[in-house]
Amino acid sequence: MAQLLQAIDEAVAYIRTRTDLVPQYGIILGTGLGNLAKELDIVAQFSYRALPHFPISTVESHSGRLLLGYLGGKPVMVMQGRFHYYEGYTLQEVTFPVRVMRSLGVERLIVSNAAGSVSPHIRTGSLMIIEDHINLLGKSPLMGKNYDELGPRFPDMSQPYDSIMIAIAERIAQERGYFVHKGVYAAVPGPNLETKAEYTYLHRIGADAVGMSTVPEIIVGVHSGMRTFALSAITDDGYPPQRVKPVSLEDVVRVANYLEPQMTDIIKGIIEQLD
Ligand code: HPA
Repeated sequence: MAQLLQAIDEAVAYIRTRTDLVPQYGIILGTGLGNLAKELDIVAQFSYRALPHFPISTVESHSGRLLLGYLGGKPVMVMQGRFHYYEGYTLQEVTFPVRVMRSLGVERLIVSNAAGSVSPHIRTGSLMIIEDHINLLGKSPLMGKNYDELGPRFPDMSQPYDSIMIAIAERIAQERGYFVHKGVYAAVPGPNLETKAEYTYLHRIGADAVGMSTVPEIIVGVHSGMRTFALSAITDDGYPPQRVKPVSLEDVVRVANYLEPQMTDIIKGIIEQLD
């Protein structure tokens, strides 16, 4: 194509039949983290099913709605539920909504996820601001033809996470007394969780947390010229090996739900404090 460009245009045109709100922030909510939507003054909402070219989420813990409205007085667009590589989508499909966000006007992308810790200093029940990442998906969402209208062929990744948003998040967390760390997030394909040997490997290569999302969306965000920020809810411990326990989706969702008010506070605070 031009297929990708046309698909973006069609999704944008459909959304524009229902609202002319120009979102400044794009927010992607991860597993167990969908409640931020309750804080939103909603102007328009769409089920992913209704949106042209949107894949349909197959994970039950994600509700699959796109919301446009106001948060902290700013126009935002929220993905309640995201698409994962392990569901069988291509990374271009996984990141399609980010392209749509950008085309609607989004300048800053904020992403949340649930992740396992591979740092001995970061424990279950704390938050980690992502400072840098390691892409272990074996692919990039930018593979294939590059559309110069969307971004450069070889985008720089020396500083994918915005230092100003990180500083604001740290300050908010400190003021409220939240346990927040900064670290490196490694993206793996999933859907199985890691073996003890894999968690240890991730620790040794320099990761602090591991999860199955976020990096594709951040890469496309950076490619398309957005400033990006990402926050992990640490839902289980992967290192050292003695700390590894069997992990269930229920455990992940329970801890993410517990951390959700803190994440919401931080995300809302960032949006309020920036112009
Ligand atoms: N590994 C990968 N993804 C995850 C984990 C984990 O331990 N916890 C939550 N998402």
